[in-house]
Amino acid sequence: MSIPDDPALKIGHLTLPTPVILAPLAGYTDPAFRLLCRKAGASLCFSEMISCHGLVYKQKNTEFLLKTLEEERPVGIQLFGSDPVMMGKAAAIVSTCPVDLIDINMGCPVRKVVKKGAGSALMKTPELAKAIIESVCAHTHLPVTVKIRAGWASDDITAVSFAQMAELAGVTALTVHGRTWAQGFGGLADWNIIRQVTEAVSIPVIGNGDISSHADGIERMLQTGCHGVMVGRGALGNPWIFSPEGRPATLEKRIPVLLDYLDLCRASLPWERYLFRIKNQAGRYFSGLPGAAKLRAALYGCDDLQQMTAALRRLEDQGNQGGTCPVGSTFNHL
Ligand SMILES: Cc1cc2nc3c(=O)[nH]c(=O)nc-3n(C[C@H](O)[C@H](O)[C@H](O)COP(=O)(O)O)c2cc1C
Repeated sequence: MSIPDDPALKIGHLTLPTPVILAPLAGYTDPAFRLLCRKAGASLCFSEMISCHGLVYKQKNTEFLLKTLEEERPVGIQLFGSDPVMMGKAAAIVSTCPVDLIDINMGCPVRKVVKKGAGSALMKTPELAKAIIESVCAHTHLPVTVKIRAGWASDDITAVSFAQMAELAGVTALTVHGRTWAQGFGGLADWNIIRQVTEAVSIPVIGNGDISSHADGIERMLQTGCHGVMVGRGALGNPWIFSPEGRPATLEKRIPVLLDYLDLCRASLPWERYLFRIKNQAGRYFSGLPGAAKLRAALYGCDDLQQMTAALRRLEDQGNQGGTCPVGSTFNHL
């Protein structure tokens, strides 16, 4: 699949050289994973959604979510909330940080969020959504984007009119996840809706939902005319999704990138607290390889990052001495 003639994605004053970006993923898109994806070819990455109340009231855990690394820029921070005043205050706080863009979450389907009128509930209250966008835009010099869904349910598809409202309210680009609130993360994303939104607004539209490879993302762009694509779950354990070459077929070629991820975790995260999350990510690097279950089990059995790194280095050494990395029985020596 060939790359579109001009692959650059322009969002406000930002020009991203390639159109494939990393989605906000709560529990995953921390600075280490974002930098890994940037190195692998993602032209922009997002923080997980951050509560405007948490930021304004300086909750410790929330403030940590604002942490970014200079090398990962450009980076976007995603805010969620349903109060225009609080969202404006949070935008002002974010604007003092070394970040490049603010995204507003209007797509999260989680009950805890929706119950408070935030996330995808805002697609049912477009007037409130408009007030939130205007307030955020008024309190920042950064480009503001919004991430929406196709609509609330299959009989309530509102993405086109909602996107037109958002453009008039001041956003510089928007992401459409082609599922409804009712779908949650099940079923398939409807890329026809993404095409309709692209045709209805004059700002860049980023399509999102079910992208499984770089080629798949480019094909979706060509099919729908959208200006960029956002990858979520497909990037977990697979930062190679951001490059045309894709994920290597052998363990020995995957290990160096996994080691790099562990180094980035050590350097940028309170990794003791995040160990479970890091193991969860690391385990995904073995997908599709023979002996994957054993490899995962051995990593899960490690007590800390040092043990994980040492185990992987041993595997790498064995691979360097004898061609491909051993798996299965040899792996017991880990
Ligand atoms: C574990 C998980 C966490 C997510 N967290 C967020 C989030 O913080 N903000 C957001 O806008 N979307 C969030 N999403 C939705 C994704 O950004 C994306 O829209 C969705 O997964 C569809 O894309 P995909 O099929 O490429 O995964 C999350 C999805 C998952 C699976």
